[in-house]
Amino acid sequence: MLNRREFLAAAGIGGAAFLFLDAIRSNAETIKKEEDMAYTAKDYSKLIGMEGFGETLLKNHFTLYQGYVTNTNKVLDTLGLMLKEDKTGTPEYAEMKRRLGWEFNGMRLHEYYFENLGGKSGLDKNSKLAKKLSEDFGTYEVWEKDFRATGAMRGIGWVALYQDVMNGKLMNFWINEHDVSHPAGCNPLLIMDVFEHAFMLDYGLKRADYIGAFFRNINWPAAEARLK
Ligand SMILES: [Fe+2]
Repeated sequence: MLNRREFLAAAGIGGAAFLFLDAIRSNAETIKKEEDMAYTAKDYSKLIGMEGFGETLLKNHFTLYQGYVTNTNKVLDTLGLMLKEDKTGTPEYAEMKRRLGWEFNGMRLHEYYFENLGGKSGLDKNSKLAKKLSEDFGTYEVWEKDFRATGAMRGIGWVALYQDVMNGKLMNFWINEHDVSHPAGCNPLLIMDVFEHAFMLDYGLKRADYIGAFFRNINWPAAEARLK
């Protein structure tokens, strides 16, 4: 059987047609690759009905998350275009680069947060994560006290239980904005959103009550699966 090149030669179409077809294929592959690289918002509607989280609050939160996904794609597309057009020396490029951390982490932190919610039972005290928390904080209760206290701090942001992958140590971090204060190279195990949109509609200023609801709904197996 003739291959494509042999067929074109035999048909007298020649090299120009061959190059033309190759260009079409290459362009289609580039477009496909770019489409594959775009981020897609995940569906967390299964969390609706979770005790302590109102439906309106959750739906608003999902919409906000979807905005981060859209903007992450937009910023990446714009930066890619500016790079192609040799506009990297511009203030617009610099500001867009700064923006990328905000949008990307806004997307990813919400994914960690929603995915570590929806749990049906407390932490199994014999689990690997429970043992690690006890080892690193003295007891599980001391860890929980520190995590809750971090979340109750004034200001908006995130609380993150991070694992230092260099030595395995677990630490609770306060993340003031999406794009700052993350410990480099560390592994996020449990993420709690304490921006006001995460609780005010249901709890007003009673942030501690929201933190209580968060703890009642932690998906511990999901958090433990992130442990390295
Ligand atoms: Fe949020």
